[in-house]
Amino acid sequence: MLEKFERYPLTFGPTPIEKLGRLGKHLGGKVEIYTKREDCNSGLAFGGNKLRKLEYIVPDAIASNADTLVSIGGVQSNHTRMVAAVAAKIGMKCLLVQESWVPHEDAVYDRVGNILLSRIMGAEVRLVDEGFDIGIRPSWEQALDEVKSRGGRPYAIPAGASVHKYGGLGYVGFAEEVRAQEKQLGFAFDYIVVCTVTGSTHAGMLVGFAKGGRQRKVIGIDASATPAQTKAQVLSIAQNTATLVDLGRKIVEEDVVLLEEYAYPCYGVPSEETKAAIRLCARLEGMITDPVYEGKSMQAMVDLVQKGFFPEGSRILYAHLGGAPAINGYSYTFRNG
Ligand SMILES: Cc1ncc(COP(=O)(O)O)c(C=O)c1O
Repeated sequence: MLEKFERYPLTFGPTPIEKLGRLGKHLGGKVEIYTKREDCNSGLAFGGNKLRKLEYIVPDAIASNADTLVSIGGVQSNHTRMVAAVAAKIGMKCLLVQESWVPHEDAVYDRVGNILLSRIMGAEVRLVDEGFDIGIRPSWEQALDEVKSRGGRPYAIPAGASVHKYGGLGYVGFAEEVRAQEKQLGFAFDYIVVCTVTGSTHAGMLVGFAKGGRQRKVIGIDASATPAQTKAQVLSIAQNTATLVDLGRKIVEEDVVLLEEYAYPCYGVPSEETKAAIRLCARLEGMITDPVYEGKSMQAMVDLVQKGFFPEGSRILYAHLGGAPAINGYSYTFRNG
């Protein structure tokens, strides 16, 4: 589906699929749980889902003759860390707007994890006191203007690399990769569980799996706590991406399955149930999920299995999208494990 698009390799190649046997057994053994380790996809600054997206964006950035990547996220944004890493790798400068998206306090929140790594990689990091919003932000537009007024040539990458013309392509590739891996495994997954915030991961998967009619088996777990905006963004990215890849069928609102009930209390703040899911997965599988994204989708998957949402015998693929560095900003939350 992606042959006509230029790709700049930033990842190791297909990511492994691993069975979470102890977790599955702990949850009653009626379904099989697997995970696709997008968190282990690259040697670039701990990797994660943004690299798949950026592989299709970087050729456009290089062709535009830019010299500075400009992007935006929260203080502990994984996405901005990945943009900083990519800028270093391709020899560009990097300006990052880091907004106060998370009402969370920890003595070292703005010193460790993602933001620490971005600083080490040489990005210019700008802290801005604005709240959570996945849309286009004035602070980011100002940063773009500022690079121009300094004589630089900015290349704009929106939050999560999502509302970018090529933002959805990377996760179309994920679906193609899963299809190839299913052939080797000798079975197909019944459900794919994915954490959703800025939308292009879910949107790309949806388009990729729509090829075989499985788009409604992609179960998005909202972690934004602004689900109407996230759902609308997933739909519009999916529709644009479907046109780009000549999918040959329409993506409609009903194709976007987004469960809203796990994002509480708000973006970036883990509930007691999220923390319990993070500990459960860490203690049974040694797999680290974070309090902002993957911990919430892990919580959702555990809850859905326990509630019998997935019919007996289902094979579930949990997309582990990365994000572990942010856990350093929650040192007090996990001070006792
Ligand atoms: C670790 C992690 N998981 C999930 C997501 C959600 O992906 P998306 O923003 O494409 O919806 C993100 C980024 O926002 C992330 O960094």
